[in-house]
Amino acid sequence: MKVAVIGGAGLAGRHAVAALEAAGDEVVVLSRATGVDAVTGAGLDEGLAGVEVVIDAANVSSMDRDVASAFFTSVAGNLQTAGARAGVRRIVTLSIYGIDGLEGRGYFAAKLAQEEAARRGDVPSTILRATQFHDFGGQLMQWTRKGPVVGVPIQPVQTVAIETVAAHLVRLAHGDEDGTVNLAGPRPDTLIRQVRRHVRAAGKRYISVPLWLPGRAEKLIRAGALVPRGDAVLDGPDFETWLAAR
Ligand SMILES: NC(=O)c1ccc[n+]([C@@H]2O[C@H](COP(=O)([O-])OP(=O)(O)OC[C@H]3O[C@@H](n4cnc5c(N)ncnc54)[C@H](OP(=O)(O)O)[C@@H]3O)[C@@H](O)[C@H]2O)c1
Repeated sequence: MKVAVIGGAGLAGRHAVAALEAAGDEVVVLSRATGVDAVTGAGLDEGLAGVEVVIDAANVSSMDRDVASAFFTSVAGNLQTAGARAGVRRIVTLSIYGIDGLEGRGYFAAKLAQEEAARRGDVPSTILRATQFHDFGGQLMQWTRKGPVVGVPIQPVQTVAIETVAAHLVRLAHGDEDGTVNLAGPRPDTLIRQVRRHVRAAGKRYISVPLWLPGRAEKLIRAGALVPRGDAVLDGPDFETWLAAR
């Protein structure tokens, strides 16, 4: 089967590409680096020629609600339109578990808008809502560090391995499941503990400081909004096993 991965050179996208290739699929990577801009739609028609399924793993670096919403809704809308023209039979969109009601975090509001745009169109849609990846604490260490101090929002997590996310993207690409599928790692944890484990694994001596963030969304996140409540597929490896294997 021919599958296009939007953002196929990104963190999630490149694992999806590897998993698709391992499953014997023909894969095309569509991103600006390969001459396709999914925001403007430039190159999409050519890129989707002969494609049966699209996996949308594109991402924007901005956390700003308006900037990120404009990005995600343009990409999702263009994929629906160009996908229908190309005869694509399904679009699988990677989103985030537990974001309902968390519009106070601009990026999550944008992901909700993306989901809505992905569902609005003629091409059948599957949304994979995954919890944050095991890598997330390591990314946070790089993004928020000021000198030796890393600020970490107080947050329970149940992170999942990106390889596991990729395997489920492939499963959904091969299937015909409409609607939303939730996926999480096998064990509850806290973000600050994982950041400290990333810091130690990187051989750094950074100090991780818990951050109490204001606002309703942050309150819900502290109360566990991003941790599955019996409504997700739980799949390993757990964080410690994953980290040890790196
Ligand atoms: N990080 C987490 O913990 C987590 C958890 C659950 C879900 N997710 C979701 O997973 C998805 C992928 O995230 P990621 O961290 O893997 O992303 P990433 O590493 O930042 O990669 C993003 C990709 O998007 C491509 N892209 C950006 N602008 C584009 C455009 N205009 N047209 C086409 N491609 C474009 C980039 O390639 P070019 O620059 O070449 O265009 C890049 O390959 C996101 O939707 C995110 O919300 C993340």
